[in-house]
Parts: sequence; C-alpha cells; structure tokens
Amino acid sequence: MLGKPVPAPSALPEQTCITSQVPESLTRRKLLKTGVSAFAAASLAPSAESAATMDAADRAKQTRSIPYGAAISSVNLARDKQYGEAIARYCDLVVPDAALKWDATRPSPDRFDFTDADMILKFASENKIGVRGHTLVWYAALPKWIDQAVTSRESAERELTHHIAEVVGRYRGTIGSWDVVNEPIAEEPGTQDLRESIWSRYLGTDYIDLAFRTARMADPTAQLYLNEYDIEFAGDRFAAKRKALVGLIRALKDKGTPIDGVGIQGHLDPRFSIDTEALAALVGEIDAMGLRVMVTELDVKDQFLPADPATRDAITAKAVETFLQTVCAGVHRPTAVLTWGITDRYTWMRYYVKRADGLPNRPLPLDAGFRPKKMFAVIQRFAGQKASQLPQ
Ligand code: XIL
Repeated sequence: MLGKPVPAPSALPEQTCITSQVPESLTRRKLLKTGVSAFAAASLAPSAESAATMDAADRAKQTRSIPYGAAISSVNLARDKQYGEAIARYCDLVVPDAALKWDATRPSPDRFDFTDADMILKFASENKIGVRGHTLVWYAALPKWIDQAVTSRESAERELTHHIAEVVGRYRGTIGSWDVVNEPIAEEPGTQDLRESIWSRYLGTDYIDLAFRTARMADPTAQLYLNEYDIEFAGDRFAAKRKALVGLIRALKDKGTPIDGVGIQGHLDPRFSIDTEALAALVGEIDAMGLRVMVTELDVKDQFLPADPATRDAITAKAVETFLQTVCAGVHRPTAVLTWGITDRYTWMRYYVKRADGLPNRPLPLDAGFRPKKMFAVIQRFAGQKASQLPQ
C-alpha cells in the first residue's frame, strides 16, 4: 500500500466539480500564454453521491492493488532529503519529469548527457522502485539546435531514430515503459487532427509509427505508450480530442505499429466536469484494441478554486475520485497510476497555472510539508502497492 494506512476522510463534503463561466475555448496553451486574471464566482453543486453513501462493498470492490508512482525531479532529489524519502516511501515507480527529454539529454547534435537521468535510475534502483521513461518524441522541450539539424524528411528520420535508439538502448531492460510519443493530437482537432510539430512538418503522421518501431527495436522488453491529455472532460473540444485519439490509435494498429498502451495524463481541471460516460467508453475502446491504459500525470489545476486550503483539497480529492472511479471501473485495471509530482512543495503548476491571489497551488497528494491530503486517501483506495515487479 502507499506507506502507513492513512485514515480515510469520514466523508468528502457534499460537492462536485466547480462550474464556471470561464470560456471552454480557453485551451491550456492559451492559458499558459495569456493567463486568466479574473474568474467568475464558483458555485459548489451538491454531489450526486458523496463518499458517505458508498457502502463497504463498493469500497472493497474499488480497492485495487495498482502500482502508484510519481514524476520525479533530479534537482529536487539532489537538494531535498524529505523529497527522496517521500518518493521511496510511497512510490512503486517513478518517471523523470524532465531528465529524459530532448532538452535535457541533447546539449548538442553530437552529444548525449544522461547525468540527471542516471541519477534518478540510481536512486530508483537503490530503493527498489520501477522507472518509466518520458518522453522520446514531443513537440516541446527541444534543444535550439534541432531547427538547424532537422530541415528535411531525411534529416527528421535520421535525428528521430538516432535519438530513440541511443536513449532507449541505454536503458534497455531497466526502464519498463516509455511515453514514446507525447501529445500528438492538436489542441482543437477538426480539419487537422495531428498537432503541428517539427516532426509532423517533415514526416506527417509517419513520425509516430517510426518512433514506436525504433523504440521496439532498441528495447523489445519495454512497454510502449502513446500519451495524451484533455481527453477526460465533457465538451466539444475534448470529445473531438478523444475521437481523434481513437482514430489515430486505430490507424496505428491497422499499420502494425508496435504500441502497447495509452497514457491518460489526467491533468484534471475543476472548471470542466469529467465526462465519466465518454471517458469510460474511451478506456473500453482502448482495452478492446488490446492496449493497456495508464494514468500518467495525475494532478488537479486549482488556480481558479477558492483560496481556503480545506475547500480546495476537498474539491481536488473529489475530482480525483471521480476520475479514478471511471478509469478503474473498466474490466481491466490501469497498469499504474502516476501523479505529476508527489508534493505541493514542487509542482509545475506554480510556473504554468499561477493563482491570481498568489497562494501556492495544491495539486498533488502530499502538501508542501509532505503531509498526506484527502487526495492521497482517494488514490490509496485505487492504487498503491510496493510491488514494483507488477507489469508497467
Ligand atoms: C512539464 C514539466 O513538469 C515542467 O517542469 C516543464 O517545465 C514543462 O513540462 N505534460 C507533459 C509533461 O507531458 O512533460 C509536462 O511536464 C507537463 C504536461
């Protein structure tokens, strides 16, 4: 389990997602770029079913031994003893949040730097924790030299395959699964489902199949995932992303692409309700295609939630509960549940989704003092087992 049992909260207060007047069209990219200063008053609607109404049988049914993990930062690992202790105590597996991205491993076209990644692998090995890799191909976190190096189909193929072969080959047999391609779907699919990137510019959708085949050749033992976000919510834009994602996966399967699973990032956002029916259907479709599902980056954006920590923690815990109830309700359980960080002390949200009132974000299972929050108890009901030999 996730460390010492944490007393489950008596009952999450009566509330569910926040409804808001913030326009749904405000995508993450725009949010990150323009920010949103004002936020309409949130209305807390009573939840359709509070935790209290769930009887013991429901709880027992829901208790599953799914490995729990977290994104890990080599910087925080080096400077904060408590951080490493918390990861070692609660996690079955970790995923480097930055150390295996292109901008961390590729200081120049002819050099690889694995210093930070190797430090994380060493920590994981010493603490008998599994490791997953993130990410081999993404539109972001690219070194500046890539624009001079990739100027044609041929150079795109050369750089992509060389990178993947070197990185996956180095950790062959030690990294159990990879986010091979991260966030390939456009923010607002429609005429163009594929997100524009340097890879799609020169290779079209071929870059995805090429990346998976190269990773498979470099380590036939690793589980290979496609990872995506904003596929959890109700709304036309999110429904379009789900549809585009399923279409892409089907096309890859038809082509014989060696894909093993789909990562549902799970960056929850209480401005948008979770479309439980559509998310369950998506998990079912992925499962029906013989693929695994993993929750890869779970956290909750709280920048528009009320300031009061207890109120925020209750709302974020409820969002996580609804999400995990839906993803874990399927016939086959997720291969793992990972949060994108483990403590509010270190979260990417403090830079990307700042609160207008300047208060620190509270998106993760442990607070800034490493104390478990309501969200921790919810995750514990669905995931958490120090048994890293489980399939990843
Ligand atoms: C984030 C990291 O946590 C930040 O430190 C970095 O500055 C930007 O990227 N989805 C992903 C992750 O797949 O790679 C992103 O990680 C968060 C969103």
